[in-house]
Amino acid sequence: MFLKKLNLINFKNYPEAELSFSPKVNCFTGNNGMGKTNLLDAIYYLSFCKSYFNQIDSQNIRYDQGFFMVQGVYERNGETEELHCGVKRNQKKQFKRNKKEYDRLSEHIGLYPLVMISPSDNELIVGGSEYRRKFIDGIISQYDKIYLEKLIAYNHVLAQRNALLKHFGTTRTFDSVTLELWDDQLILHGDGILKKRLEFLQEFTPLFNKNFAFITDSTETVDLDYIPSIKDKDYRTALMTVLPKDRVMEYTTVGIHRDDMEFKLNGNSLKKFASQGQQKSYLLALKLAQFEFIKKVKNTSPLLLLDDVYDKLDEPRFRKLISLVSSNDFGQVFITDTHSERIHELFMEANVDVKMFHVENGVVEEIAHA
Ligand SMILES: Nc1ncnc2c1ncn2[C@@H]1O[C@H](COP(=O)(O)OP(=O)(O)O)[C@@H](O)[C@H]1O
Ligand SMILES: [Mg+2]
Repeated sequence: MFLKKLNLINFKNYPEAELSFSPKVNCFTGNNGMGKTNLLDAIYYLSFCKSYFNQIDSQNIRYDQGFFMVQGVYERNGETEELHCGVKRNQKKQFKRNKKEYDRLSEHIGLYPLVMISPSDNELIVGGSEYRRKFIDGIISQYDKIYLEKLIAYNHVLAQRNALLKHFGTTRTFDSVTLELWDDQLILHGDGILKKRLEFLQEFTPLFNKNFAFITDSTETVDLDYIPSIKDKDYRTALMTVLPKDRVMEYTTVGIHRDDMEFKLNGNSLKKFASQGQQKSYLLALKLAQFEFIKKVKNTSPLLLLDDVYDKLDEPRFRKLISLVSSNDFGQVFITDTHSERIHELFMEANVDVKMFHVENGVVEEIAHA
């Protein structure tokens, strides 16, 4: 599967753009602030129906304009397919595959697998637990539809339960029967989600170790410890135990929406004890393992988007990454860099055909290299 053509209208700083890509490596170069990352984000939109960076669709419309459109032509299983995403201010987002609108966007997730590696991945280490949950949920959702639906259902029930707790607080009332109806749903979905997450981590961790060893040439071990918010109790007992607290706080204080993961290097907390360099290698290994995992379960190479990875790595590791993604184990790659010569040379050394684009203030031009 690969993206042949991308068309943009009024997407972020692009009034209009029409690009055709190589099925292998594509490189966007240009100075900072010119729109390189925005191109990756447009490609991300087509796989996930949303931005990697900004969850509010309308903020991705070019300033002072009324709508944006992102369109992609793909080759998938030998067929040409077309994806279309349109956002108008104050209107429901339109998302079509081969001219047909989806009933639910969740049906689309996973059909065009994609992995993004970006400097903002750092949030996985320094950010709140929601980033780490999103990381695993995002991977599982790409291959397990039931999981994604459970997650959506769980979040819906959770919002209802929280609204009810709030209502109890404002009206100084309490109604255990209604609350238990929501509890039943929460437990049903929550148990299933927890089980899947643990199963996933068991399979994922060996791949993660392998990738970390490859990048760092070391024998250090990496681990992801799942930290459930419900310990030593079943879900229902836990909800009952914290009920007095939930009523004071007016929201649900335990459950899979509060679980976390601890990243470990040689058994120690990555955040507390690892060097900057180790943290960067760790993040890269996480993402490469994500790529490998999705490739395995989907039986196709995800698109790989590499945003400013040069900033993340020292020279030898960067070379290693370039030769890795140039190999046949990887499919189509999109990479950004501020230095076009540097990156072009590295891909030439790796013997891959790379298509180079120069980006300047929302205008993209193909660069012909001798
Ligand atoms: N909704 C928008 N409308 C117009 N311009 C935008 C919008 N969102 C972001 N931009 C502009 O996009 C530019 C940043 O593009 P980006 O792709 O991050 O640059 P690069 O990756 O090349 O450093 C900034 O100049 C920013 O003002
Ligand atoms: Mg950028």
